[in-house]
Amino acid sequence: MKKPKIVVTKRIPEQALELLKENGDLFIWDHEEEPIPQEILMEEIRDAAGLFTNVGDRIDKELLDEAPNLKVISTMAVGFDNIDMKESARRGIPVGHTPGILTETTADLTFALLMATARRVVEGSDYVHQGRWKSWGPMLLTGQDIFGATIGIIGMGRIGEGVARRAAGFSMNILYHNRRRRPDIEESLNASYCSLKELLKKSDFVVLLAPGSSETHSMIGKEEFQLMKPNSVFINTSRGTNVNETALYEALKNKEIWGAGLDVFEAEPVSQEHPLLTLPNVTVLPHIGSASVATRTKMALITAENLIAVLSGKEMPFKVKVN
Ligand code: GLV
Repeated sequence: MKKPKIVVTKRIPEQALELLKENGDLFIWDHEEEPIPQEILMEEIRDAAGLFTNVGDRIDKELLDEAPNLKVISTMAVGFDNIDMKESARRGIPVGHTPGILTETTADLTFALLMATARRVVEGSDYVHQGRWKSWGPMLLTGQDIFGATIGIIGMGRIGEGVARRAAGFSMNILYHNRRRRPDIEESLNASYCSLKELLKKSDFVVLLAPGSSETHSMIGKEEFQLMKPNSVFINTSRGTNVNETALYEALKNKEIWGAGLDVFEAEPVSQEHPLLTLPNVTVLPHIGSASVATRTKMALITAENLIAVLSGKEMPFKVKVN
């Protein structure tokens, strides 16, 4: 019997590829970073039954219009803001993702970015590499204390909770803002629920972990940065579209806030000409929140399993639930 066609939009870990090969005829855009051109995706999707997609692919109405045989979309990510969920639901195409698996790895990276930004780790490393280190300096590369400071976490989902657990280990005072209250975390980590305004006013570290959606689009902008303390550090490992980057740039430049650590951008990859890249008090990363070898391997396997489940008429293990 002819195997169903599966389109894979990037090079993925070998184990997941093997699994897919056993269950389908693959078209792979076999590149690690270079995105698949939309016209090639449009062409290849025509006779495909499964789509293994990645962060940054645009799965919109126009693409779905070209995909009459598509039975399943499976994204190697927890976020699905790049997929038109309404259009896929309208066509009865289930969407799978990888929640849970990447929680601790992304919380690690969020905390690493927080620490690196507060203690100017990247600037310090550049300083040594560039031969600028002349002697021990009483005020050289002074940063912000983490231990005992107040952290405000916006979005207390799985990753937010992981960050809060790490913060508790640093004796931080934990504030959070979320759609619903989390009595479990208030109890176990002594976290306090606050309004967004109160959180912004009180926190030394503001960590944004809300999912990307039309509701969270530009949720942090000029007014929000103006509420923050001048010594505060802003961290974003969620989605760049949750932040107004012009307002962030102004806030940093005008010293309304002290620093920022960003793993995500409004447009990715961020342009080399982006004004944020001209500021010394910004630590930037190329969207690598979940990028550990073990986690990415697990994510790829789950993504393949989600996809294969639907093609074999089974229940998808991790189907996106839209509320
Ligand atoms: C990455 O950003 C993800 O959503 O998994």
